[in-house]
Amino acid sequence: MLKIGMIDSGMGGLSVLKGLVDSGVNAEYYYLYDNKYHPYGSKSQSELVAIGYSNMQKLIDFKVDIVIIACNTLTAGAVSKLRGMFDIPIIGVEPPIKPATMQCENILLLATPSTVKSDRVMEMMHSFTNKSFYFPDMSKLANLIEENYSNKDIIYRFLADNLSKYKNIQGIVIGCTHYNFAVEEIQKIYPKSKVFSNTAGVVKRTQYIINKNKFIVPNYLAVKVYSTGNEIDIEKKYFLCDYLGLGIEFYENLK
Ligand code: DGL
Repeated sequence: MLKIGMIDSGMGGLSVLKGLVDSGVNAEYYYLYDNKYHPYGSKSQSELVAIGYSNMQKLIDFKVDIVIIACNTLTAGAVSKLRGMFDIPIIGVEPPIKPATMQCENILLLATPSTVKSDRVMEMMHSFTNKSFYFPDMSKLANLIEENYSNKDIIYRFLADNLSKYKNIQGIVIGCTHYNFAVEEIQKIYPKSKVFSNTAGVVKRTQYIINKNKFIVPNYLAVKVYSTGNEIDIEKKYFLCDYLGLGIEFYENLK
């Protein structure tokens, strides 16, 4: 039966899992909630490769068929190296810069410092020199969301303080999966702008890989979440089950 492994530094990648669940992509999901190394966004490329390597090993031990790196930072910093090291399909998530450039002139890229600095993002942007890109400092946002996912006011205030100086913005690119949890607050600041997220792209790619490899898809969906550091607190466990609309088995301290 199809087993899909997923990795993120915390809850961000669960927005990608929600996309898969809502699209009916049945599988046994093994989700690494790597809170031991959260946040990824301040890490160097070599640290990200080491983190990615050890998390891939853990997922291989679960005998997963596919890995989804449900994190822009880890994708930008490590996915090409990891693809050279492991012989299973690895799907990454990248900021949807290209679709934004097709509709917008002035674009905000919201991403972690590590993603913004990455060669991959620089390359993508250099192909669209006729567009204006802005990179607000979002270094604290993933952690703020991780700690205040249910306090939308705190998230809104942070965004209002850090974004309001950017005017005449038509497109906002979500370049970190954690920020999918802040889209409503972003839209409150920019009600007329279009928000671009890559969740649907990852779902499509996953469906393509499943069909291409003829993996045997179960007629059920099961989700196991493994934190690598501290136990996820009980309120957050409830929140995440409610968010996905299904029961989750939680395990902690995965070595
Ligand atoms: N959710 C992650 C991303 O998409 C990482 C956030 C972090 O750990 O800094 O980039």
